[in-house]
Amino acid sequence: MYMAKMNLGTDHEVKERIRGYFADTTRDYLAWYGTRRHHHMHYGFDRDLPRGGSPTGNMTRYLARLAGLLPADPGRPAPRVLDAGCGMGGSSILLAREAGALCVGINLVESHARIARDFALRDAAKWGTPLETAPGATAVPAGLDRSAARFLANDYMAPAFKPESFDVIWALESFCYAPDKEAWIRAMAPLLKPGGRLLIADGFSGRPAANPAEQRSFRHFMKGWAVPHFCSFEQTVEWARHAGLETTHAENITPDVLPHAWKIFRLGPFLVPWRRLLHALGFIGEENLQNAYAIYHQYPTMKRGLWRYGAFTMKRGLWRYGAFCFRKPG
Ligand SMILES: C[S@@+](CC[C@H](N)C(=O)[O-])C[C@H]1O[C@@H](n2cnc3c(N)ncnc32)[C@H](O)[C@@H]1O
Repeated sequence: MYMAKMNLGTDHEVKERIRGYFADTTRDYLAWYGTRRHHHMHYGFDRDLPRGGSPTGNMTRYLARLAGLLPADPGRPAPRVLDAGCGMGGSSILLAREAGALCVGINLVESHARIARDFALRDAAKWGTPLETAPGATAVPAGLDRSAARFLANDYMAPAFKPESFDVIWALESFCYAPDKEAWIRAMAPLLKPGGRLLIADGFSGRPAANPAEQRSFRHFMKGWAVPHFCSFEQTVEWARHAGLETTHAENITPDVLPHAWKIFRLGPFLVPWRRLLHALGFIGEENLQNAYAIYHQYPTMKRGLWRYGAFTMKRGLWRYGAFCFRKPG
């Protein structure tokens, strides 16, 4: 029986593979996936999608409601959000603009953090995203050199933050890249303020492959997106519990993601032979070829239940270091 775990090597090798994958494919995300326009690198969500609306923006807003960030409450202090594995900044930029959040996005891939910073400054210039300004300091005009969404290169397995720094930790299609998912949850939990929430939306393991063809298809999908392995819903809930987090929402949103997966899949039958030709002629590297296979195989494997898409929120209790921490009113 095929297990969802694929042993791609040590943690270091997994991260090198992820770096290599994004080094070769970031240009494709920007050009073909529309990331230059919407800044997202994740699936869309079709439930209640307004006519002509952005499926990726719809996903972010749905998750922001689960995490309690939307609807925005102008009367509350700006929520502090860690966007762990922030891609090119889509979530942080949207949450800064629409939820009034102060976001820090961290990324293993330095170029993603750089591109995200650039997008955030342009967005601040366009929309006037509120600035993070210390009380009494002279405000910097929006977009000049700061945004409420900031980005830095930092491995999320070794986060560079003090305990209890964040109201929300946000992991949208980044958790799947953690070489050790239990260790990742253990690293994140202490960074939450008491009462803070961890949001995870990602692929999770489904049923085992029934035959070698399904097994091959699933391998192509995982390898092509440099995902080391998936874990199950149940493992995630259990690891969160061990880290002192209570799961407050666990939802299989596969049916809402499938329509967008289908739209991505439609490129596959053209992309695969085209990329095979370019690869044979030496114009593109292995990662670009494998990426085309993933684009093709992600949809049938999801549709057949070999993996599923889950959305979770997990809450840190109000207990802290053995003492009771009272929630501030309001
Ligand atoms: C599929 S993208 C999703 C990005 C973003 N969350 C979004 O939804 O647009 C996955 C991101 O996770 C980042 N990532 C993977 N492993 C990481 C790690 N160990 N530390 C920080 N970021 C990581 C990748 O570099 C990439 O930018």
